[in-house]
Amino acid sequence: MTSALPYANGSIHIGHLVEYIQTDIWVRFQKMRGHRCHYVCADDTHGTPIMLRAEQEGITPEALIERVHGEHFRDFSDFQIEFDNYHSTHSDENRELSQDIYRRLDRAGLITRRTIEQLYDPEKEMFLSDRFIKGGCPKCKAGEQYGDSCEVCGATYAPTDLIKPYSVLSGATPVTRESEHHFFKLGECEDFLKEWLDPAGKAAPLQLEAANKMNEWFAAGLRDWDISRDAPYFGFEIPDASGKFLYVWLDAPVGYMASFKNLCEKEGLEFDSYWQPDSDAELYHFIGKDILYFHALFWPATLKYAGYRTPTKICVHGFLTVDGQKMSKSRGTFIMARTYLDHLNPEYLRYYFAAKLSERIEDIDLNLEDFTARVNSNLVGKYINIASRSAGFISKRFDGQLATALDADGAKMVAGIQAQAEQIAARFEARQFSEAMREIMALADQANEYVSDKAPWVMAKEAGQEQPLHQVCTAIINAFRVLTIYLKPVLPKLAAEVEAFLNIKPLQWCDVSELLTDHTINNYKHLMKRIEQKQIDAMLEASAATLQQAKPSPARHGEAQQKKTAKVKKETMTSDSDHTIQFDDFAKIDLRIAKIVKADHVEGADKLLQLTLDIGEEKPRNVFAGIKSAYSPEQLEGKLTVMVANLAPRKMRFGLSEGMVLAAGPGGKSLWILEPHEGAQPGMKVK
Ligand code: MSP
Ligand code: ZN
Repeated sequence: MTSALPYANGSIHIGHLVEYIQTDIWVRFQKMRGHRCHYVCADDTHGTPIMLRAEQEGITPEALIERVHGEHFRDFSDFQIEFDNYHSTHSDENRELSQDIYRRLDRAGLITRRTIEQLYDPEKEMFLSDRFIKGGCPKCKAGEQYGDSCEVCGATYAPTDLIKPYSVLSGATPVTRESEHHFFKLGECEDFLKEWLDPAGKAAPLQLEAANKMNEWFAAGLRDWDISRDAPYFGFEIPDASGKFLYVWLDAPVGYMASFKNLCEKEGLEFDSYWQPDSDAELYHFIGKDILYFHALFWPATLKYAGYRTPTKICVHGFLTVDGQKMSKSRGTFIMARTYLDHLNPEYLRYYFAAKLSERIEDIDLNLEDFTARVNSNLVGKYINIASRSAGFISKRFDGQLATALDADGAKMVAGIQAQAEQIAARFEARQFSEAMREIMALADQANEYVSDKAPWVMAKEAGQEQPLHQVCTAIINAFRVLTIYLKPVLPKLAAEVEAFLNIKPLQWCDVSELLTDHTINNYKHLMKRIEQKQIDAMLEASAATLQQAKPSPARHGEAQQKKTAKVKKETMTSDSDHTIQFDDFAKIDLRIAKIVKADHVEGADKLLQLTLDIGEEKPRNVFAGIKSAYSPEQLEGKLTVMVANLAPRKMRFGLSEGMVLAAGPGGKSLWILEPHEGAQPGMKVK
C-alpha cells in the first residue's frame, strides 16, 4: 500500500492529511484483520522547484531534502500515520530502478527522441517551463500572465506568443533554443491500458468516476510523454545521454518501488516476488484526484512495458475544503500539520476525516463548527462517556475486578454490538468510513441507553445491589471494549490507552467475539477531552501568523506543480449543484447598506456589541452583533456595512435585536464585517 509521495519543498498541511489518514486507517484495518501488509511512502525530491528553493535558501538540494524529510516524518508520526518505511526518491534504490526502467522501455521500443524548441533563460542558463515565463496576454493584453494561459481572460497560448516575455528567475528576455527530448510513446500502450482498466473476470482497478475520466482521455487521444529535462536539473541522469535528466514524474512513482526495496533489504523480504508480472501480492495506491493522469496512464504503462506487475487498485480521493472554501492563506485556513498539532489532538482530525470519507472522489469539507460538534458529541459524548460512566465503580467498589458473568440484559446488549463486526468490517474494506462511523455511533447509542436504563449510580446507593451493579458495570466495560476494536484503525493511540486501562494485549479484529470477565482492570484516567472553541481560535490565529511569515517563493510555481494546477482545473470531477437556489429565493432577503451611527459594549455580554444602524428609516435599528472578539466600538462608528433588514426581530436578554449585520470568517479574532465601496448610501438595497 502506498500514499502519494509529498513534494520535498513544502510542509505537510491538513489537505495532505486527508490522504495519509485515509490510507493509514485502511492499512491498520487490514493489519487488524490479520493480513500481511506493507505501507510505504517517501519524499518526492526531484525537479526544478526543489532545485530553486535550495538555491534561494543558499543550501544544496541534498541539505534541503534531508531537512524536509525529517519534518515530514515527524508530522506524519505525530498524526499516528505509521509507515512501514518512509524513504526518499533521491536514493540509490530509486536511481537504479529508474534508470533500469528507462533502459527497459527503450529496449521495448517505447522511447523516441525528437528535437523541440523551448524558451531559454540566457542569464540563468537554463530552459524555462511555462510557469517560469511571464508577459502580456496576446489576447486581452493583461500584463504579468504566465506562459501557458491568461488568468484574466482565460486564453491559452504558447509562451512564445506572450507580449514582452521575461524570465521569472532572472528578468532576462528568454530566447528560443532547440534541444533533443526523450518521449515515452504512450499512444502505443492504449490497448494494454484499456485491458487493464476493464479486466475480464477481475475487479476494476479504478472507481467509476476515474474510469470515465480515463475513457475521456482515450477519446482525446494519448500523446507522447516528454520524460527528459535538460541540465541544470536536480534528478537522475538518463543513461547514455549526457546532460539529460529523467523528468521528476518518471522517477517519482518508481519511488514506491524503491521505498519497498529498501524495506525488503531491512526485513529480508523478497522484492521480486511482489513485483514480477505474475505476483499474487496486491498493490494499492491512494492518491488525490489531481494526479490521476500520472497514476492511471503513465504508471501502469511504465510498469507493464518494463516487465513488472501492475497496480491492483488505485483509490482516488477528492480535495479538502475548509468551511466550504478552498484552503486559503489569507483566511488562515491553509493549516499546516504542525500548527494543528500545536493546538489540537491529532485523533480529533482522524475521527473527523473518517466521519466524512467515502469510497467516492468527492471533495470533503472541514467545517470547523461541525468538527467541534461531532468530536464533542459523538467521540467524547457517546463513546468515551461509556467508559467514564462505569469504570469508577469497578475500581472503587470491586477492586478493579470484573464480574464473572453479565446479567441477561447486559449480555444481550453486548451481543448486539458484537453482531455488527462483519458489517462494520465490510464498510472499512470498501473505504466507506463515514458509514462505518455512523454505524459505530449507533451502537454507542445502544450502550448508552443500557447505561441510562440500569442507572448504576442509583444502584450504587441502594443496599443489596452489589452483584447486579458489578454485572452491569462489567457489561458496560465489555461494550466499550468492542467499540474500541471498531474504532482502533481510526484511533490507534486512544485504543492503546484503552488496552492499558483494560489491562489486555493489543486488540485484533477477531477479538470481538470474546468477553472480558473475571479479569482485573486498571484505574480509569480520563481518555479524551472535549474541544474548546478557544483552541480552534488559537489555531486559526497561529495559522494566519505562520502564513504571513512565510515568504512567497517562486518554487511554489514549479513545473510539476503547474501541471497539476492546470489539471485540477480541467479535471475537477465533482460538482456541487444541489446547493443552488433560485433567484426568487435570494430576492426574499432584504439586504441594505447600513451606517453604524453608534456602537457600544453590552453590559454582561462578552461576545456582543450593540449597534445602532441607520438604513434610511425614520428610526434607526438596534442590532446585537456577536463581533466583540474582533472589533472595538471605536473601530466601527461611522462606518458603512450591510445588514439583513427583514430578519424577524429577536428578543434577547439585553433587548430587541432588529436585524443582522454580515461578516465573514470562522469567528474569534478572525472575523471581518462587510463594507461597501465608497459612494454607497445608507438604505440602498443590495441586490
Ligand atoms: N509529489 C506528487 C506525488 C507523487 S506520487 C508518485 C504530489 N505531491 S503533493 O505533495 O502535492 O501531494 C501529495 C498528495 O496529497 C497528493 O495525492 C495530493 O492529491 C494530496 N493532496 C494535496 N493537497 C490536498 C488537498 N487540499 N486535499 C486533499 N488531498 C490533497 O502530488
Ligand atoms: Zn488575457
